[in-house]
Amino acid sequence: MGEEYGRTVVVREFDPNKESEKVEAVERICEVGPSGKLSLFTDLLGDPICRVRHSPAFCMLVAEIGDEIAGMIRGCIKTVTCGKKLPRNRNKSQFTETLPVYTKVAYILGLRVSPSYRRMGIGLKLVNAMEEWFRGNGAEYSYMATEKDNLASVMLFTDKCGYSKFRTPSILVNPVFAHRISISQKISVIQLGPSDAEKLYRRRFATTEFFPRDIGSILNNRLTIGTFLAVPRGSFSPDTWPGSDLFLSDPPESWAVISVWNCKEVFTLEVRGASRVKRTLAKTTRIVDRALPFLQLPSIPNFFQPFGFHFMYGLGGQGAEAAKMVKALCGHAHNLAKEHGCGAVVTEVSSCEPLKLGIPHWKMLSCAEDLWCIKRLGEDYSDGSVGDWTKSPPGLSIFVDPREF
Ligand SMILES: CC(C)(COP(=O)(O)OP(=O)(O)OC[C@H]1O[C@@H](n2cnc3c(N)ncnc32)[C@H](O)[C@@H]1OP(=O)(O)O)[C@@H](O)C(=O)NCCC(=O)NCCS
Repeated sequence: MGEEYGRTVVVREFDPNKESEKVEAVERICEVGPSGKLSLFTDLLGDPICRVRHSPAFCMLVAEIGDEIAGMIRGCIKTVTCGKKLPRNRNKSQFTETLPVYTKVAYILGLRVSPSYRRMGIGLKLVNAMEEWFRGNGAEYSYMATEKDNLASVMLFTDKCGYSKFRTPSILVNPVFAHRISISQKISVIQLGPSDAEKLYRRRFATTEFFPRDIGSILNNRLTIGTFLAVPRGSFSPDTWPGSDLFLSDPPESWAVISVWNCKEVFTLEVRGASRVKRTLAKTTRIVDRALPFLQLPSIPNFFQPFGFHFMYGLGGQGAEAAKMVKALCGHAHNLAKEHGCGAVVTEVSSCEPLKLGIPHWKMLSCAEDLWCIKRLGEDYSDGSVGDWTKSPPGLSIFVDPREF
């Protein structure tokens, strides 16, 4: 509890049975962009907790003044890879795979303060209360993501809350066209079942930074549409698929993998503020694309009505042709998104991800630097074998959890 400008601010847990509408009203006023400019609206489809509820532990807090909701914050906790180590009993003559080092990390998202209550310390109060919940639940680190030019948010976290700039992955967005994308004849795309996908991810990507220890629950979540593997045609097929263990014991020279998550079920987006001319132009591109799909002309989806998207996660692969394999997988994901009536396919990868080359995206819709800031929550945690994670250099890849996108 605290006094702001003579009024008492109470920070407490959100009550989903009574407050969903009030909270969504605050979300809406927080999203009003400058007049005459394009702005992106998010519709949480009546469930304010939707962006954290699939995580192993989550919490949503509200700041209340009288009977008014002045702000809110969401947070979740999971165990992820923060480094790697060699196994203790390794036989020096043998090649040994490195093992992941895990930590419990918390993530803050969906912090909003109603415009009429800003600069009164409510945002800070919400972050402090959320961190208390994180500490109480054993989290060692807390991190958040923001646009790097969101001054209010960057200042709040770095200047007032002790966070430091950590990683700057890229959000890559590709529109879903009216035509299907044709995939190279030289590549086969095979769908893996969740347990095969889990084996493959654990064996090959468990040491990737932010790899979630509960990868199985993500792959088995109903929002995962599937995991897809691209291989050179003729090497493997769905009929000859031997399972991930045998595949990895003798893989083809190049291959790649992605999983697809259905964000459309969780929330929708809408671009507002576009002029009639822009909307008509976009519509014209769709009409032409629909009429002449064989030309494979890029068209602009109807972003001016609520639309959903698919998120590609767990992107990885190896070999000289891996980026081409990724391109084929993105084409496959595009076609799935088209079947599901989505407006876009989105992914987020490390800024130095070597496979980024294979991911088709429109620069004007993407964000080259999504700023992630991190803080160590307690000084009394052991440094373990990786030391203080907040000081570690970035790896080539990063695992972006679809549950929190
Ligand atoms: C970011 C946001 C939550 C801040 O809420 P708030 O209640 O106004 O923040 P506080 O009053 O607690 O501010 C604490 C500190 O943050 C920084 N800060 C907040 N707003 C700022 C602004 N507009 N410009 C610069 N610094 C700012 C200041 O350091 C401030 O301390 P000070 O007032 O003593 O200078 C609010 O602006 C908001 O809802 N923005 C829209 C949604 C959003 O961007 N959310 C963050 C996504 S992660």
